[in-house]
Amino acid sequence: MAERLNAPVLKTGMGASPSRVRIPVPPPFIFMNIDIVEATLSDLNALSSLEEQVFDHLRYHTISKKQYRYLLTKGKCHIYKAVSDGELVGSVVVFHRKSSAFARLYSLAVDSAYRGQSIGRKLVEHVADMMRQKGCKGLLCEMRADDNRLLDFYQNLGFKITGKLPNYYADGAQGLKLKTLFNV
Ligand SMILES: CC(C)(COP(=O)(O)OP(=O)(O)OC[C@H]1O[C@@H](n2cnc3c(N)ncnc32)[C@H](O)[C@@H]1OP(=O)(O)O)[C@@H](O)C(=O)NCCC(=O)NCCS
Repeated sequence: MAERLNAPVLKTGMGASPSRVRIPVPPPFIFMNIDIVEATLSDLNALSSLEEQVFDHLRYHTISKKQYRYLLTKGKCHIYKAVSDGELVGSVVVFHRKSSAFARLYSLAVDSAYRGQSIGRKLVEHVADMMRQKGCKGLLCEMRADDNRLLDFYQNLGFKITGKLPNYYADGAQGLKLKTLFNV
């Protein structure tokens, strides 16, 4: 109904033609404030629900709730969450050992209702900032070789393909190894 109220009315043809065309107007752009902070055990349910929503266990290696609990309490990793209006809308797990020059991105996920609004990019950029501060030289990750949009996403963030992982995913799909180096 709102679309009809907003629609400008254009007259078509020459003179006072009675025919009118309604052009739908897209909703106004709403600025979304996104905070990216480290997740805690209190985020366990939300992280686990997002993982279930985003990753099909027949296609990906998924993280169970039990594994998330372990990662949040004892894992050698950081888990960052993207929050909008108090709601967890994205997350990423980053494995990093003090002795390693590279940190590994794992399970990057944005709620399907919030995609295409740069939340994924912000999560990766935040991880890069944090890992740079810890002395890392860059980031590594793996992705499905059959996901061209995802490859665009990573390449736009400076990642390059460094190798292939045959029969890597649960359904036998090939994986790609990606790497980006920080500008120092
Ligand atoms: C990949 C993902 C995290 C990107 O999050 P996002 O907040 O939508 O990303 P951004 O808004 O910063 O960037 C959008 C770009 O992401 C890429 N993209 C990849 N997969 C996408 C998807 N399923 N939906 C929307 N964009 C996708 C596109 O290049 C898109 O650019 P375009 O809109 O010009 O086509 C999100 O799509 C997602 O959770 N996908 C499913 C899980 C996944 O594949 N994770 C990576 C595992 S290695």
